[in-house]
Amino acid sequence: MKVFIAGIAGGVGSRLARLLTASGDRVDGLYRRPEQGERLATEGIHATHGDLTRLDAPALANLLHGTDVLVFAAGAGGEGGTAATTAIDGTGLTTAIEAARRAGIQRLLLVSVFPEAWRGREVSDTFEHYIDVKKKADAELAATDLDWVILRPAALTDDVGTGHISLSPALVPTQVARDDVAATLAELVRTPQIRRRILELTQGPEPISDAVRRQTRN
Ligand SMILES: NC(=O)c1ccc[n+]([C@@H]2O[C@H](COP(=O)([O-])OP(=O)(O)OC[C@H]3O[C@@H](n4cnc5c(N)ncnc54)[C@H](OP(=O)(O)O)[C@@H]3O)[C@@H](O)[C@H]2O)c1
Repeated sequence: MKVFIAGIAGGVGSRLARLLTASGDRVDGLYRRPEQGERLATEGIHATHGDLTRLDAPALANLLHGTDVLVFAAGAGGEGGTAATTAIDGTGLTTAIEAARRAGIQRLLLVSVFPEAWRGREVSDTFEHYIDVKKKADAELAATDLDWVILRPAALTDDVGTGHISLSPALVPTQVARDDVAATLAELVRTPQIRRRILELTQGPEPISDAVRRQTRN
């Protein structure tokens, strides 16, 4: 299996790359800063230097050659204001969808967010914009004929993963460790029966493999 991770140097992306590499999958992905490529290489992870906002769909499709599953874990992360969020979390996904089509990739996993995260709290215009862009990106992907999965994690933490989660079409947002998000994505990569589904993810009581397997029966 070859998996391409947009955002491979990020908190979730790098953890996913490590898990997949350790289990013998071939991994590639986009990183922006040269030192990130060096760090990934020391971990035995192959990745490609590139900026999602500077690649058009044909150029990205060229990088995706031989990919079985595309994971979109890139995001502006609040840096660069609303324009960066639109360019990466929004237009970046549009480019990835078109590139997947051109490269003949059927399966695309998107790391999204709970649309109602922080409901009831005072949030900044920047955060509202982020949620708006993410929701529109979900809608755009859901309207395609790809075998997409939209994974919506709750607030991310750098706590050590527990290996236990809640995974369901609708959950109350709490939090979840990036380790557990990556492990859930790795399990979804290996579970092609789960397709065209939106799944919310929080910390929880169920072993990750059981939680994912249960979704194949729903
Ligand atoms: N933070 C939360 O609580 C939360 C909750 C739910 C969902 N999410 C979603 O989960 C996603 C993954 O989270 P995370 O913690 O892994 O985020 P992260 O560490 O910020 O990783 C995102 C990666 O995307 C990369 N990226 C940004 N712009 C790019 C571009 N133009 N070209 C190529 N790569 C680019 C970043 O590169 P650099 O390293 O160069 O910046 C970074 O490595 C987020 O993007 C967010 O949408 C977050």
